[in-house]
Amino acid sequence: MHTVHQPDADNPRRVADLPGPRAWPLVGNSLQIESLQFHRTLEDWAQQYGSMYKFRAGGRTMVVVSDNALIANLLRDRPEALRRTTRSSRALEEMGTAGLFTAEGEEWRKQRKLVMRGLTPAVIHAFFPTVVAMTERLRLRWTRAVQEGRRVDLLRDLKAYALDVAIGLSMGQDINALEHDDNPLQRDVEQVFYRVARRLTSPFPYWRHFKLPVDRAADACVERIGLAVAGFVAEARKGLAAHPERRTKPTNMLEALIVARDEADSGFTDQHVIGNAVTMVFAGEDTTSNTIAWLLEFVSRHPEAAAKVVAEADAVAAGQSVLQDFAGLERFPYLDAATTEAMRLKPVAPILGMETNREMEIGGVLMPAGTMMLAGLRHSARKAMSIPEPEIFRPERWLHESTGQGGTASSDAGDDPNRKLFPFGGGPRFCPGRYLAMVEVKMVMSMIARNFVLTHDGSAAPVRELFTFTMTPSALPVSLALRT
Ligand code: HEM
Repeated sequence: MHTVHQPDADNPRRVADLPGPRAWPLVGNSLQIESLQFHRTLEDWAQQYGSMYKFRAGGRTMVVVSDNALIANLLRDRPEALRRTTRSSRALEEMGTAGLFTAEGEEWRKQRKLVMRGLTPAVIHAFFPTVVAMTERLRLRWTRAVQEGRRVDLLRDLKAYALDVAIGLSMGQDINALEHDDNPLQRDVEQVFYRVARRLTSPFPYWRHFKLPVDRAADACVERIGLAVAGFVAEARKGLAAHPERRTKPTNMLEALIVARDEADSGFTDQHVIGNAVTMVFAGEDTTSNTIAWLLEFVSRHPEAAAKVVAEADAVAAGQSVLQDFAGLERFPYLDAATTEAMRLKPVAPILGMETNREMEIGGVLMPAGTMMLAGLRHSARKAMSIPEPEIFRPERWLHESTGQGGTASSDAGDDPNRKLFPFGGGPRFCPGRYLAMVEVKMVMSMIARNFVLTHDGSAAPVRELFTFTMTPSALPVSLALRT
């Protein structure tokens, strides 16, 4: 039953009545928040003020919800009752990333269908040889570095790998960011995302009134990205004309989007295709690379888990340095469990923003239309799950029946702990890239297990969580040696 419903006249609790940290005049609670630790501050406040509290920053009151069941309901009540925050959508759209992530209402419904056509298991299967080749490229780069005694910058390389995969899938191009730092498209994409992140944490949207040189530079990047992607669309159209069989079996997401757009009365324009191609890059790069990075951090500190990952990879990819068999991806129950466990402790989206579309009662509190809400995804799961030693990384917790969704679940749905975790969000706006992301996680982790030995640098400072667009590890003190 949904907890979101129309205001109840008998229940006058209002946002102003909610507890929360004491706000100062004008600045509110801004001075208590360090932007890189934003999520930690919200989680600490939730400990103090409970599962629904308020704070003020950037001239707005925000409500933080950390009740697991309530969050599940809120996620499910989109796009009707709640939307993404106007602030984040506008910041993204101003930077050329108008697509599924920012769309609302009917437009979202339409675009969701479009994007899902480009991310079906069949499309990912057809794209799989490219993922294999990109994973092989990563293996070769790391092997050479180890042989030559150079330290591998794992964070940098994982990010470049995820970018290559995202651009390969959504734009049909191999920019090889892994081996070249100076690709113009990569530079533009990085600069745009950096600017969006800065704008999201800016107290005042000054760029709507005047533009600094950095804003003009970012606008120029947006324009160049738009032109480049329009060029890729034209190229992909030529490819489809030369190989008409690809219209029924697209080899990447861009082809699938073009086929859908070209259908009679589709209602889609090339701009939808371009905006969503850029959206996939924004949504699929740091999320995937940081998930792999956190997982590596855990596995390298837990030799018994590392041994199990190796044993599984040896069994599934016997005789191969990089897994070649798409069906083999389904045979990694331990790695799936380890990934779920890493995402439980270090989800790349520990909080998720939403905004009410109309006045409504949520959890017994009357929220006006336009109330900004932050769902404490990680904190709520931690409170709702009664598991022994919750701070410990223990993949075995998830080793029951595999659901194939990067985790496992018991068939007893009532108290299924898997349903308390939201690493990919939930409800109708659930991450459509999860399947691809899990393919990347398994390809990279099995490649590492087959070829390298991980060593955690015991003398390194503890890795900190940094809240950028996603939750990023401050460092990855892990080194690689060749497996003999
Ligand atoms: C491990 C990697 C990833 C994680 C942890 C992740 C997580 C998330 C989360 C938490 C959301 C918000 C969901 C919600 O509002 O309920 C989301 C949305 C989204 N993700 Fe992912 N994601 C990952 C990889 C990807 C990849 C690889 C792609 C694209 C190929 C992608 C595309 C998207 C899109 C387009 C949305 C917006 C969906 C909508 O609004 O309907 N994600 N993701």
